[in-house]
Amino acid sequence: MKNTFRPLVLAAALAAGISAPGWAMQPDNEPISPIPAAKVTNPAMVELGKKLWFDPRLSKSGFISCNSCHNLSMGGSDNLKTSIGHNWAEGPINSPTVLNSSMNVAQFWDGRAKDLKEQAGGPIANPMEMAFTHELAVDMLNSIPGYQAEFKRVFKKDKISISEVTDAIAAFEETLVTPNSRFDKWLKGDQKALTKNELEGYKLFRDSGCVACHNGVAVGGNSFQRMGLVEPYKTDNPAEGRAAVTGSDADRFNFKVPTLRNVELTYPYFHDGAADTLEEAVNTMGRIQLGKVFTPAENAKIVAFLKTLTGDQPKLEMPILPPSSDKTPRPEPFAKK
Ligand code: HEC
Ligand code: HEC
Repeated sequence: MKNTFRPLVLAAALAAGISAPGWAMQPDNEPISPIPAAKVTNPAMVELGKKLWFDPRLSKSGFISCNSCHNLSMGGSDNLKTSIGHNWAEGPINSPTVLNSSMNVAQFWDGRAKDLKEQAGGPIANPMEMAFTHELAVDMLNSIPGYQAEFKRVFKKDKISISEVTDAIAAFEETLVTPNSRFDKWLKGDQKALTKNELEGYKLFRDSGCVACHNGVAVGGNSFQRMGLVEPYKTDNPAEGRAAVTGSDADRFNFKVPTLRNVELTYPYFHDGAADTLEEAVNTMGRIQLGKVFTPAENAKIVAFLKTLTGDQPKLEMPILPPSSDKTPRPEPFAKK
């Protein structure tokens, strides 16, 4: 067994006053695995998808892009309790990160979209988000010669349809993965990647049972689980979770377990955005999912571990978008509907 506790070595190290990161614990069949770097198979499609990702002309106002609510400078989220949509609409739910979202079992908190392609059509036509329609979005793109040429190069088709739009956005999103976190380095055998404190935090996280739901490559994202397993979760947010999709009462308040990758960057937490800090989120999770009350010192260790899950953020060059033509319909930033 690789995980052998080495009391003599450790005692000697402690006696010598040396802090020995990782000495007492090595990775051994851990329930979390490292994130592989993204494999780009079609760079031209990814580049087009990146343009669409940043293009606010896919919204009625001409002002809101995917990046407005999933800001890639801020961990792929908006860091707001709930998002702001068209006409300053108060969004119903917290915006999850798009980083590593290709690893999710399904998309959205309730999993109502099966994959990234299906998801990408949602916000464009959502009256509370980009407030456009697929037809108007496609007309807009077809009116821009730069896009026409680029879609033709990538898809070998003369006419753009929503299917190519969502294919390209999904291809770009698949590249938004965050490898090389310090925790992944530790998983791969770099004993110095974590401090003693962080490792103790991981041990608490693992051995308290957090890994029952937060596991796998994304430390979550791979199942739907009850929010408030041991103790009910109190919230004013009306979202009912997975039941909205399955219609089954048993799924009430089941939500997709969020990924904890980059969780340091994606505050505030939970579907209602009610927890402002990781300390608060960890306390709540311990209590309502596991019936456990962590001491402040234990909580701080778990938080220290969670911060080691921040990986390399996607390095992007801002795309320059093709200009509108004289025929491109003009945006309606102040339309009330
Ligand atoms: C007005 C804010 C807003 C805009 C604009 C927006 N989103 Fe989102 N996005 C959200 C919110 C809020 C959710 C969660 C909704 C839910 O689960 O019901 C979400 C969910 C997602 C998810 C699912 C992530 C997960 O873990 O389940 C993906 C992927 C995503 N958006 C991609 C996009 C793309 C692509 C665009 C542009 C076409 C976009 N979003 C535009 C707010 C926004
Ligand atoms: C029974 C399954 C389960 C267990 C056990 C569990 N979680 Fe969660 N966790 C969830 C679900 C589901 C959510 C999302 C709930 C929501 O927002 O409604 C969540 C959300 C979180 C979030 C917020 C992430 C975000 O982006 O909003 C953090 C942080 C977190 N969990 C940490 C932990 C820690 C630490 C433990 C152990 C003390 C733990 N979880 C145990 C299922 C679980």
